[in-house]
Amino acid sequence: MIYYKTNAEIELMKAAAMLVSYTLAEVAKVLKPGMLTLDIDKLCAEIVQDHKAKTSFLGYHGYPHNICASVNDVVVHGFPNNNPIQEGDIVSIDLGVILNGWHGDHAYTFAVGEISEEEKRLIHITKESLYKGIEKATVNNRIGDISYAIQEHTEFKNKFGVVRELVGHGLGKSLHEDPQVPNYGRRGTGTKMKENLVLAIEPMINMGTKDVFTAEDGWTVKTADGKPSVHFEHDVCVKKDKALILSDFSIIEKAERNNKNLTASPIINF
Ligand code: CO
Repeated sequence: MIYYKTNAEIELMKAAAMLVSYTLAEVAKVLKPGMLTLDIDKLCAEIVQDHKAKTSFLGYHGYPHNICASVNDVVVHGFPNNNPIQEGDIVSIDLGVILNGWHGDHAYTFAVGEISEEEKRLIHITKESLYKGIEKATVNNRIGDISYAIQEHTEFKNKFGVVRELVGHGLGKSLHEDPQVPNYGRRGTGTKMKENLVLAIEPMINMGTKDVFTAEDGWTVKTADGKPSVHFEHDVCVKKDKALILSDFSIIEKAERNNKNLTASPIINF
């Protein structure tokens, strides 16, 4: 069942998405080697609570933390832990909130310290693929148009691996609504989009093989070959000529650029 939102509801969802962006920007200000991903979890939970909102992942199908903190070969759903973040780590922070009954859910990948050229390229291409997908999120296009755009850029043109087991999704009063938004697929297939469908589009792209496995804890998804993986996620409202992005990377990017402990990824125009 697909729920289309009213313009008033889109405004409320924008506020939820922006609370996530604001919180991730606060993370971008303080992230540095030695920090624990559990510290980031605590910081995020405090900010969200201060805004009279709730974190949405905690307790979702039994998920035990507020955020997902996925480092290096962890693709998604990494548990925040007590291992200090190291210089050279690639850290994806994924946060969901419920504000006034509406969900915001997005993610950003940070490079702590210096990383390799191939890792920079993986981060750049993954972020760029997200925007190539978003460009297709317009009325009368189909979900497969988004999926293909992401796969074309990451896999066909740049030879990275697109994770198949996890997908983007509709977003609204629930964290996961229809339709699913795979990061691979065929143009002209899938659900035809109408105005005010809200999607969480979230490419999860591996440097090497597309294959992943789930760790003993039942959540942590890792690459099969141990190579790094990158994850960016935006909340997007389908519109007629150009999608409306409800979340905002620009405040995160600004903080990232002002933090000397991070290597900032390129800004993509939309
Ligand atoms: Co999501």
